[in-house]
Amino acid sequence: MATTPLALEVRGLRKSYGKLDVLRGVDFDVAAGSIFALLGSNGAGKTTVVRILSTLLKPDSGTAGVHGFDVLAQPEKVRESISLTGQFAAVDQILTGRENLIMVARLRQVREPGKVADDLLERFGLTDAGGRRVGTYSGGMRRRLDIAMSLIGDPPVIFLDEPTTGLDPEARIEVWQEIQSLAGKGTTILLTTQYLDEAEKLADRIAILHEGTIIVSGTLADLRKLLPPAKTELVERQPTLEEIFLSIVGKGAATPEGAQR
Ligand SMILES: Nc1ncnc2c1ncn2[C@@H]1O[C@H](COP(=O)(O)OP(=O)(O)OP(=O)(O)O)[C@@H](O)[C@H]1O
Ligand SMILES: [Mg+2]
Repeated sequence: MATTPLALEVRGLRKSYGKLDVLRGVDFDVAAGSIFALLGSNGAGKTTVVRILSTLLKPDSGTAGVHGFDVLAQPEKVRESISLTGQFAAVDQILTGRENLIMVARLRQVREPGKVADDLLERFGLTDAGGRRVGTYSGGMRRRLDIAMSLIGDPPVIFLDEPTTGLDPEARIEVWQEIQSLAGKGTTILLTTQYLDEAEKLADRIAILHEGTIIVSGTLADLRKLLPPAKTELVERQPTLEEIFLSIVGKGAATPEGAQR
């Protein structure tokens, strides 16, 4: 038995929308209890990957295992093992924050839904707003509520599609801390992000999805090896993930030597 079990095992995923080949053979693994960041430009197919892994969309071919279950053969087992926070918040505007949390807790048949809701409101700095209708929340508050909802029932695998888009810096840091503490407790997290500093800060491994395949993946240190450090007169500076990303994905940029999976 492997020492680190795989929480996600993705092999040869392909998906087209009509003539648009979005995924052309996507492969990656994610170790249980780790944070994996999927990067890519707008339209690269990140949300498509997340939708396939969360059984909302069927691939044209290829396989994906989530927490040991196959997305096509055992979709209900996959759904029991995951939660998904989509790119666009899925909270009910008419209900209060607390009512939203209680509703999800009941759906997931969690014990003491009221207590679970109050604990999550506290963790996400929403205690004061908990009794207000979500329609009155700011974008950042909705986002935090959405992420709080995804934690109910302690699913072993969590998909966060752009979890911090639209959050102010303070709220982003709070969400980062929650993500890190979840991973520390053994939850596996796949996140997509446009913010390269977010991937740099959080992810154990990073993969770049470009033109339908994962063109590079590895730890930040692995990715840094793809670019020589920028030389200045006095200090040697490590390239940032942004520099690596732009060099690999940027238009007209030469593919760095050895840039492959
Ligand atoms: N249901 C659909 N029908 C047709 N085309 C689609 C559909 N869903 C996505 N696409 C197209 O597939 C491509 C990949 O979309 P996807 O949402 O997966 O990208 P993304 O990497 O998540 O982008 P973003 O960073 O903007 O969220 C885009 O060109 C998009 O327009
Ligand atoms: Mg997307």
